[in-house]
Amino acid sequence: MCGIIVYSGHRPAVPLTMDCLRRLEYRGYDSAGIAYIQQNKLQVIRSRGKLDQLEEKIGQHDVYHATTAIGHTRWATHGLPTETNAHPHTDNNKELALVHNGIIENFQEIRNSLEQRGYVFYSETDTETILLLISDKYKHIREKANSEDEAIARALSQALQEVEGSYALALINLNSPNEIWGARHSSPLILGAGTGENFIASDIPAFLPYTKDVVFLEDGELAKITANGWEVYDASSLNRIDKQINRIDWNVQSAQKGGYKHFMLKEIMEQPQVIKDCMAGRIDSANQRVILPELDHVSVPEQVHIVACGTSYHAGLWAKYIFESWSRVPVHIDIASEFRYRDNIFRENDLVLAITQSGETADTLAGLRIAREQNVPVVGLCNVMGSSVARESDGVIYTQAGPEISVASTKAMCSQMAAFLLLALYWGESKGTLSTEFLQNSIQDFISLPGILNSELARMQESGQEFAAKYSRSRSFFFLGRGINYPLALEGALKLKEISYIHAEGYAAGEMKHGPIALIDPEFPTLAIAPHDDLYTKLISNLQEVKARSGPVIGLTHPGSDLNLEDKWEIPKMWSALNSFLILPALQLFAYEMAVYLGKDVDQPRNLAKSVTVE
Ligand code: AGP
Repeated sequence: MCGIIVYSGHRPAVPLTMDCLRRLEYRGYDSAGIAYIQQNKLQVIRSRGKLDQLEEKIGQHDVYHATTAIGHTRWATHGLPTETNAHPHTDNNKELALVHNGIIENFQEIRNSLEQRGYVFYSETDTETILLLISDKYKHIREKANSEDEAIARALSQALQEVEGSYALALINLNSPNEIWGARHSSPLILGAGTGENFIASDIPAFLPYTKDVVFLEDGELAKITANGWEVYDASSLNRIDKQINRIDWNVQSAQKGGYKHFMLKEIMEQPQVIKDCMAGRIDSANQRVILPELDHVSVPEQVHIVACGTSYHAGLWAKYIFESWSRVPVHIDIASEFRYRDNIFRENDLVLAITQSGETADTLAGLRIAREQNVPVVGLCNVMGSSVARESDGVIYTQAGPEISVASTKAMCSQMAAFLLLALYWGESKGTLSTEFLQNSIQDFISLPGILNSELARMQESGQEFAAKYSRSRSFFFLGRGINYPLALEGALKLKEISYIHAEGYAAGEMKHGPIALIDPEFPTLAIAPHDDLYTKLISNLQEVKARSGPVIGLTHPGSDLNLEDKWEIPKMWSALNSFLILPALQLFAYEMAVYLGKDVDQPRNLAKSVTVE
């Protein structure tokens, strides 16, 4: 997720663009840049790191005459967060500059074709590929076009029809310096209509102090802005489209949360998109198989050692179930702070999988280094490109979940599970442990999952509110699950305790009778994860034991369940591992609504840090 801002108006464009970028920094902050036209030259200033570094570089230039500019703050998905990979990118003629948010799935084949025709690439990004494709079209169309306007519109239209994947982009053109173009497909882009000035941005907060009049752009639309007007076109036919102006009454802070009350809620609600983004470029739909080019050089391991902390550890424990069931790869899993001090035993063809959203967790990084010292290959599963774990791993799978701002990790775990599901299918196919039918059905069902989850989240939140209110006086909570639901029980307990400060324990349901059941009484409720899977009946008998001791139970189950409980929380039924993608948000929303009900600081819980970079 990156931040784009575009300005054309009566004010000095560069300082204004920087001001707008600061309100988009929550969308990505590993590098940034601006492009503007001044004294008939296209100028680009970029920097690695946060906006302060860019601000410092801009201070060394005279930038006060430009009245059009494009700006970008990056969350790297293709190409490390370096200045060379920072946006805006320019074409080989230094006439066009482009900024982009999204993931282009067929960028490599387009790049190969352009390189064969003599185009020179300077970055590793998919963004530069889109730009040079547009530049190539523009060069040929411009010779016969009646105006620069027409030439660039047709070049954009033709180029974008060849692109597969998601994009929100903006393009500035030296040959038509007063207008700027935008286009979107599956990534947000919004037009801000001002007086004597107009904006295009990834999100409303960018320009909210300047105008509250917005035009929402849809997939397949092009937008053009100048200081005195704006127009929207159909990207294929280039016919003009009439669009409505909407008045926004948010303040900037709530706008950065997309109108949600907290970043945590926004990130929970982003999970359908996160599953899509994690899948992007990793499913060969023609052949119905998983492709993971980032692991082409890593052979299928004989045995995997998973190392992680907190929520990432729970994701790893979840992965153990499907790696061993689907890929038949034995998995050892350890919390990193134990792994790093254990006398680990590694065998030939072992692999260490280091799971970390931030890529900077000290214990996990230490575990990676121990493995490397013993010549065991390491694959990192990270959300932050260029993070320490990513840089020090032999291979890295990026979860592509976008920045996770809330301290409580939510969408990161969803993206980790999505990556693991793809990896289990990938290894299973390589080892021949999965039938073609299972592989194809799994891929089809996984592709349909975001839509199912998206249609369910609002109802889940209502149930979370209802149960949170009812159980808000609880001093302790049990979370129970069996099999692949056991790691989810651990995660549900962690979420509740870390943001509502209610003591909670996640337990394997079969383990209750070995002591913990002594805790059960009418004041000690249990949330039981009870999907209709092959361990459902076993779980029911555990719940009988809880109910026999007057323990209140919330059963997280499916419609039509025969669970004889006062509190049944029904969610749609998928199957096995796919059920987990519906169970996880329910647990997250229960914890979220409890913390809200109790008036806790949801996004910044006491005593916690987003990334634990010390032992
Ligand atoms: C989870 O909600 C916590 N914020 C914490 O347990 C976190 O998952 C853990 O610190 C690991 O972080 P990482 O994924 O960045 O390594």
